[in-house]
Amino acid sequence: MPFAVIMAGGRGEGFWPRSRLAVPKQFLNLIGEKTMLQLTVERVEEMVGISGTYIVAGLDFKDIIMEQVPHLPEENIIIEPYGRDTAAAIGLATLILERKDPREVMIVLPADHYIGDVPCFQEVLKNAVTAAWREEGIITIGIAPHRPETGYGYICQGEMLDTIAGVPLYRVFQFLEKPSYAKAVRLLACGNYLWNSGMFIWRVNLIRQLIEKYIPQLARGLNKIGQAMGTEQYPAVLKEVYAELPGISVDYGILEKEDNVLVMRGDFGWDDIGSWTALDRYAEKDERGNVIEGRGVLLDTSDTFIYSPGKTVGIIGVESLIVVNDRDSILVCRKNRAKEIKKVVQALKEKG
Ligand code: GDD
Ligand code: MG
Repeated sequence: MPFAVIMAGGRGEGFWPRSRLAVPKQFLNLIGEKTMLQLTVERVEEMVGISGTYIVAGLDFKDIIMEQVPHLPEENIIIEPYGRDTAAAIGLATLILERKDPREVMIVLPADHYIGDVPCFQEVLKNAVTAAWREEGIITIGIAPHRPETGYGYICQGEMLDTIAGVPLYRVFQFLEKPSYAKAVRLLACGNYLWNSGMFIWRVNLIRQLIEKYIPQLARGLNKIGQAMGTEQYPAVLKEVYAELPGISVDYGILEKEDNVLVMRGDFGWDDIGSWTALDRYAEKDERGNVIEGRGVLLDTSDTFIYSPGKTVGIIGVESLIVVNDRDSILVCRKNRAKEIKKVVQALKEKG
């Protein structure tokens, strides 16, 4: 049976002020009753079992994970002492999985994505696992793009390599992480680029080899951590070595460099609910395109998103704004500049 590794260590800064450092979006119920993490676990549990499900995150998230996924064995929570981005988080998970079975396939999933058609998603994942067994490459899941999004990676679909249960598997001609807006417009017009969904399917030993090849500093650190695993020194070694690991995402660190990348298309309805604008896309709108979560009086206002539980907001004569009022903070932002919300978080951190 394959393993699933859920990456849940992101800080969700695009949702400031609602997701403070303490509660990033994967732990919130942004759409529906269940949290993004709970939905992610639920979608793969049938395929990998709860004992084959692992969640990687920082220590400060351990309690919330245990609370939200109470049936997950505690040892399946892989704790990072610091955030060092996804390549390190995945690397740490491989150390644990390779002790179980280094030839087995692991499915890497972000904890904070919207999936529309769950049975279709599960079918794609099943085929992707078969592909990872057969092809010994990195299997990605590509989504047909419909806007020039600059927050995603782009996959240039190459020739067809194989079919799995009738579903085509393509070579990736090129992988481009987070292009500029002008480039994203060109890629969209091109027609043969897909969005990278951020889910990866590969054998445990393959990703270890690729870390070795492209991020040798990370590989050296992981080797040291691996040697200490199971000994009394482990917590101290983990802390000391992890602090020095390079903070790089798997997309920049490996995907952009490696040639043996394959893609399967996923038409299950997908979105990375990365900011208020993403949430706005799914919310019910009034006749002028406004979303009001909480109480608000909007006059002569259109295409505006309001999130204000607890306090009434009055708005007159504006368009395309995001207004968020949460506890002691207020955000007012043009919709087309929502990507910069992270800068506010950064500035606040610097101010201390
Ligand atoms: N454990 C752990 N530790 N998890 C992390 C860390 C970390 O240091 N950093 C990020 N994550 C988790 C996030 O919580 C999220 O679930 C996932 O890893 C991906 O990280 P993001 O920071 O959300 O990446 P992104 O959205 O900017 O870009 C990635 O996803 C896009 C699709 O959503 C890339 O893979 C893009 O190519 C892709 O298009
Ligand atoms: Mg993301």
